[in-house]
Amino acid sequence: MTESTAEQAETFAPPEQFAATANVGADEYERAEADYLSFWAEQSRDLVDWHEDFGEVLDWTNPPFAKWFVGGRLNVAYNCLDRHVLAGNGDRVAINFEGEPGDSRIFTYAELLAEVSKAANTLTDLGVRAGDRVAIYLPMIPEAMISMLACARLGAAHSVVFGGFSADALRSRIIDAEARVVITADGSYRRAKPTSLKPAVDEALSSGDTPVEHVLVVERTGQDIDMTDGRDQWWHDTVGQASPEHECEFFDSENPLFILYTSGTTGRPKGILHTSGGYLTQVLYSMKAVFDIKPESDVFWCTADVGWVTGHSYVTYGPLAAGVSQIVYEGTPDTPHQGRWWEIVEKYKATILYAAPTAIRTFMKWGEEIPAKYDLSSLRLLGSVGEPINPEAWRWYHRVVGGERCPIVDTWWQTETGAHMIAPLPGVKSTKPGSSQAPIPGISVDVVDDTGENPAGPEGGLLVIRQPWPAMLRGIWKDPERFKDTYWSRFPNTYFAGDGARRDADGDIWFLGRVDDVMNVSGHRLSTAEIESSLVAHSKVAEAAVVGAADETSGQAVVAYCVLKDSRDDDGADLDALVQELRAWVGKEIGPIAKPKHVFIVNELPKTRSGKIMRRLLKDTAEGREVGNTSTLADTSVMDAIARQLRD
Ligand code: WT7
Repeated sequence: MTESTAEQAETFAPPEQFAATANVGADEYERAEADYLSFWAEQSRDLVDWHEDFGEVLDWTNPPFAKWFVGGRLNVAYNCLDRHVLAGNGDRVAINFEGEPGDSRIFTYAELLAEVSKAANTLTDLGVRAGDRVAIYLPMIPEAMISMLACARLGAAHSVVFGGFSADALRSRIIDAEARVVITADGSYRRAKPTSLKPAVDEALSSGDTPVEHVLVVERTGQDIDMTDGRDQWWHDTVGQASPEHECEFFDSENPLFILYTSGTTGRPKGILHTSGGYLTQVLYSMKAVFDIKPESDVFWCTADVGWVTGHSYVTYGPLAAGVSQIVYEGTPDTPHQGRWWEIVEKYKATILYAAPTAIRTFMKWGEEIPAKYDLSSLRLLGSVGEPINPEAWRWYHRVVGGERCPIVDTWWQTETGAHMIAPLPGVKSTKPGSSQAPIPGISVDVVDDTGENPAGPEGGLLVIRQPWPAMLRGIWKDPERFKDTYWSRFPNTYFAGDGARRDADGDIWFLGRVDDVMNVSGHRLSTAEIESSLVAHSKVAEAAVVGAADETSGQAVVAYCVLKDSRDDDGADLDALVQELRAWVGKEIGPIAKPKHVFIVNELPKTRSGKIMRRLLKDTAEGREVGNTSTLADTSVMDAIARQLRD
């Protein structure tokens, strides 16, 4: 996945029609640069419905702890619902929900407001108050968004835990966030089968020492589950019976909106904290500028799960705050057939599609005759997110899905940034397959060398963010030191993103992947350390090293090298069984997405004289490359031994 300079020169000018009607023109870059604080203040007053106007735009007197739109008061859920209904758009479809088995449900903005009000009344009855935390462990069903908005309405922060995470992962997130309530479902549909969720909640809460008082359970599949008396209640018995009227209160601009856990370079996930006014401002601005949203006519489809930040910003908050109609799909792209996504685009006449490169590469593998069977002519803009998009996948997306008429916005951002940071403005930029190009107006980034002082050379360097931005994380939950250490200590007063990047001759930015021990598997962030600690927690494993190895479909794949405690375990047929056991173990401990693609049992790991594992060498081997410089190894024969073992 490297780009030649010839590929860099290949550009796609915005279609004339698109540019002529685009929400944002080229002048916006200069306006924002001239005075970025006034620019954001103007965007915020224009896009957000403030109950009380703010005074100071940014308080940066105690960096890196920012306050945006100081003193302003708002309600984020009001911005997503009430204001559209009050403006006479209550009958506009908010959510077109498509269940995997083929069931569908439609919510207008007025109906969604009623559902969110009912859920807010129920949470109030359960004792949830502004400032509390609620854990949400749900599949991709409308109740996930309804629950998030009900929390926002009450000024309580939600902590959504991806439904694919294990009971252990759920438990540690519940404890860290001190959640009083968990909202879950009996299960969901995946690959035409009901999968279960509730047993993981039971397991997470089994020891009884969590702060959880109540569990609300949505009935999705109707499968048999245990309900604990005094703790568990059905959603339909509570929310279903609640009043659809709920008067909302307004909260400070910096009131916590959500905590979302993400993997870092150590084994312990970080609770990324986002607040209200700044987050909503930048999410809305990106809807306008990057997605060019026309709320009256667009049908937006972001295919991400609400368990990830993409689902927070571009399934729940962005589209609803923008007042556009959107599609929410529960299941996998190949159920019941490999044309399911394109069938959905055709059925709902989607105009904007936002997906991860890994999905595009999977569709490429399945063949272009599949999308060709459907009418995709409603699409007018395509988006990519989560990992670098290789030029070949970009071109396929452009030609096969976009019919060569849709601009592609390759959007770079992170859980921490809250909203898009680097992406071409679709009516302005001539796009290049594989490049995210430039920061959006109001954002200031740089690509620097190791010292942070100089611009990186043509081979690339590190991406940094120079100025605070409205949707920036406000910290790591309960861990201010880790917040400073992780992002702000490498270079003074500068945010270090952990990504490698380079600029081409035009100054456009190309991402080169993570520079730390964070892997990107199918656009999801995984930590090598977290998987290593799970492996060494297995009774037979003494030591483990995990690397992300290049993979044609998922971008990177998890590859683990394990040294066993007892070498007698490592002979013959038992080895295969053990490898399967270890893969399943990680799947159970962390979640199926973390399951290593390969586990290699080796006698020794390559280490430096000071005992540091040299993952770089293991990555070379995993990617089938000649092993790089081994001169700093304590024992230089280790890599030969590993190579021999893998061959055998
Ligand atoms: C990391 C953030 C952004 C929401 C989904 C992932 C990588 C993300 C791109 C892109 C190249 C990208 C980066 C980043 N990444 N988008 N368009 N091009 N790389 O959020 O789990 O917080 O991961 O994903 O490495 O640091 P996340």
